[in-house]
Amino acid sequence: MRKPFVAGNWKMYTDSSDAESLVNGLKPLVSDVKGLDIAVCPPFVYLQQVVNLTKNSNIRVGAQNCYVESRGAFTGEVAPEMLKDVGCDYVIIGHSERRHILGETDDLICRKVVKALSAGLEVILCVGELLEERETGKTDSVVETQLSNGLKEVAAGDMSRVTLAYEPVWAIGTGRTATPDQAQDVHAFIRRWLGTRYSPDITDKVRIQYGGSVKPENAKDLMDCPDIDGALVGGASLKSDSFAAIIKAAVH
Ligand code: PGA
Repeated sequence: MRKPFVAGNWKMYTDSSDAESLVNGLKPLVSDVKGLDIAVCPPFVYLQQVVNLTKNSNIRVGAQNCYVESRGAFTGEVAPEMLKDVGCDYVIIGHSERRHILGETDDLICRKVVKALSAGLEVILCVGELLEERETGKTDSVVETQLSNGLKEVAAGDMSRVTLAYEPVWAIGTGRTATPDQAQDVHAFIRRWLGTRYSPDITDKVRIQYGGSVKPENAKDLMDCPDIDGALVGGASLKSDSFAAIIKAAVH
């Protein structure tokens, strides 16, 4: 049985006072929630603050990106070891906004995944197709390419620290969610792919989050699908009550 995992991707939103009220609002709403993992992923500059605010709670902290080196002359970049040092447990890698706005390639994404795992972080690796790719029947092949390239150098033994997030790009921030059937189909495809690339054991154990306009109103139907193990939530994670409602919908 996979333990559901709900993570909030704050993107480039919040300031330090928003971060504080969001976390302080969320903590009491989810303090009794058991049987699932919860994380928030603030912008880099608020990570330390949010780590301090979430101490002694069931909320863990992740970053939204990292670099592929431990240290060096890489102006503006942040090493996974630095994230670990300030108390992060997770890092999101390969989010579609980084792929499409910042031009990240599968090769770079794979190097980030490997480096983050070697620094002791857990990884949320995002994959997902564009609207035109879905409309031309390319969803499975796009997702398969992103997975096989993104996990190319990732050994089976490290897969216990990888969560996959299926995020159809056309559903991110658009209010247009994939239907539970559309999401479940791709999640099942990803799970079958894991069996071919790794082993039946890994197929059963790897968690696959759905992301893309998840809201309290649609969360339960999505989370009830057999291969959906939680959510990566953008907009609705910026309000403590809506994020808490999504978290509760993910509890089996
Ligand atoms: P959204 O974002 O929930 O605002 O659609 C999801 C994501 O980008 O991870």
